[in-house]
Amino acid sequence: MYLKKLQLVNFKNHEEATLMFSSAINCLVGENGSGKTNLLDAIYYLSMTKSAFGNTDLMAIKHEAQYFSIIGHFEDTDEYKVVCSLKQGEKKQLKVNSSLITKTSVHIGRFPVVLIAPDDIAVIKEGSEERRRFFDTTMSQIDAEYLEELIKYNRYLKQRNSLLKQFYEKNYRDLDLLATYSEPLVQCALSISQKRKEFILNFKPLFNSLYNELCNDKEQVTMAYVSYVDQPDFEAIFKKQQAEDLRLQRTTVGIHTDDYDFLIGSHPLRKIGSQGQQKSFLVALKLAQFEIIKDYKNSKPILLLDDIFDKLDDARIKQLLTMIANERFGQLFITDARPERTKALLKNLKAEIATFKLEFGQTLQDTSFDNKV
Ligand SMILES: Nc1ncnc2c1ncn2[C@@H]1O[C@H](COP(=O)(O)OP(=O)(O)O)[C@@H](O)[C@H]1O
Ligand SMILES: [Mg+2]
Repeated sequence: MYLKKLQLVNFKNHEEATLMFSSAINCLVGENGSGKTNLLDAIYYLSMTKSAFGNTDLMAIKHEAQYFSIIGHFEDTDEYKVVCSLKQGEKKQLKVNSSLITKTSVHIGRFPVVLIAPDDIAVIKEGSEERRRFFDTTMSQIDAEYLEELIKYNRYLKQRNSLLKQFYEKNYRDLDLLATYSEPLVQCALSISQKRKEFILNFKPLFNSLYNELCNDKEQVTMAYVSYVDQPDFEAIFKKQQAEDLRLQRTTVGIHTDDYDFLIGSHPLRKIGSQGQQKSFLVALKLAQFEIIKDYKNSKPILLLDDIFDKLDDARIKQLLTMIANERFGQLFITDARPERTKALLKNLKAEIATFKLEFGQTLQDTSFDNKV
């Protein structure tokens, strides 16, 4: 599956752009602020129906404009036209070959994508939310049922929390009503937790072998799924927590507090890992994400590499380039503010390379240093 053509109208700083892509490597070059990351985000939108950077949909409409639209033409053995658009004051719309998609879980995973971006280090350094987001993004693309359960869980959680707030504000309690939210919430939590636990078992060996491939580190790295829900008496724990939930006006235990421990030796990577180890860990996580989606979907996800040449050191860049040269990946998008560097790094690859020079919202395709297949 690859993205053949992308058309943008009023998407972030791109007023209008039409780009024809290579099925192999696409380099987006241009100064900082010219809109390279925005372009990757547009591709991410077509796949995941939302921004990769946690921004609201409204923030993606070009300032002063009334709407945005992203049109992508994908191709494998068939062709697909995916349109994602949003008008101010209306609901976001998603269409595939002119049919309206009303359930995101039906769409996510059809055009798989993996993004490696500078802020990803947050997955290692920041709180549990970042790690849950990483694994949810991976699992949602390979298991539509998982995503549906997750959407359901988040809905029940929101409703239960707002009920807890209401009880507090209006100074009354209806525990039967509360139970109508608690019961389905607990059921969803159990099934999500089971899936998360099984997923990590499959993910770990893939991750470990990629980590070893990236660096000849003698330290053993590993990960573990940590959850309140993943214990035999979770239902009892949840019930016991109810008094605390009422007092704090929020649901205190559930899969929304799950975490994944990343370890080096038997210590937390965040605390004792060197910068190099943390970066290798991160790249291995992303490549394992790529591999596992590829295995499940039987098709290589589109790989978006945002400013990685700035963030990775030479050894890791070299390793990644070897993987690219070995055609381990399918379609690739690489952004870089320094075209000479990209050109130098990629010059020995045999794959077709298309280069796009972005100049503050205007995009020019530059074929002057394309490699030929
Ligand atoms: N909704 C929007 N409308 C107009 N411009 C936007 C919008 N959102 C972001 N931008 C602009 O896009 C630019 C950043 O683009 P970005 O893709 O991050 O650049 P690059 O990756 O090339 O450095 C910034 O100048 C920012 O102000
Ligand atoms: Mg950028």
